Amino acid sequence: MIRPETPADYDAIYDFVKTAFETAKVSNDKEQDFVSQLRTSSGYLPEMALVAEQTDASGQSRIVGHMMLTKSEIVRDGGTPRETRFPTLLLAPLAVALGERCHGLGAELVRESFKRAKQAGFASILLVGDPAYYERFGFQRADQFDIHPTAKIPPQYVLIYALTPDALCGVSGVTTAF
Ligand SMILES: CC(C)(COP(=O)(O)OP(=O)(O)OC[C@H]1O[C@@H](n2cnc3c(N)ncnc32)[C@H](O)[C@@H]1OP(=O)(O)O)[C@@H](O)C(=O)NCCC(=O)NCCS
Repeated sequence: MIRPETPADYDAIYDFVKTAFETAKVSNDKEQDFVSQLRTSSGYLPEMALVAEQTDASGQSRIVGHMMLTKSEIVRDGGTPRETRFPTLLLAPLAVALGERCHGLGAELVRESFKRAKQAGFASILLVGDPAYYERFGFQRADQFDIHPTAKIPPQYVLIYALTPDALCGVSGVTTAF
């Protein structure tokens, strides 16, 4: 079952994310703290912080997946009279329990987040991640749209997904997400 997280899940999510990223291809060992930071940020959207929960025959539940979408912005001509701010979402982090990987759960979480983001009227989703994983969902390099991070991140890892066909028409600038 995929559902939004609640405060009762926070401790379990912290441990879950920490353990999941111990076996990630890339990790800074701080993803569990990043989750806590995102929750206290102004961009936090409780209905878009999702857990995947599995319940066994005895009725015991455990978290087997977690991902967050938080509100962010793409800013064009920041600090000038022409400044334009485009709302977007940040997808981070995404994690699936080691024993449950490669069965499509990561994809289910991503697709559920797309559905919720569309319903809420958002235009796009940004992330820093492996294109080998995220291109299957339609994520594209953000620099194609002249969208760039403030941090020095190799451009092939900065990806964006348009939630509607014309969502990125006329959008460009610097992302404040990372
Ligand atoms: C990345 C992750 C969430 C994928 O979850 P999942 O439930 O296994 O994903 P799915 O079942 O939807 O997709 C599995 C496919 O993704 C591929 N894949 C998984 N992680 C990948 C990665 N980091 N880079 C490229 N491909 C990856 C698998 O090889 C598999 O490929 P296949 O469909 O060709 O067999 C999971 O591996 C995980 O939690 N990893 C540790 C945390 C992490 O690295 N998160 C950041 C993601 S960039």
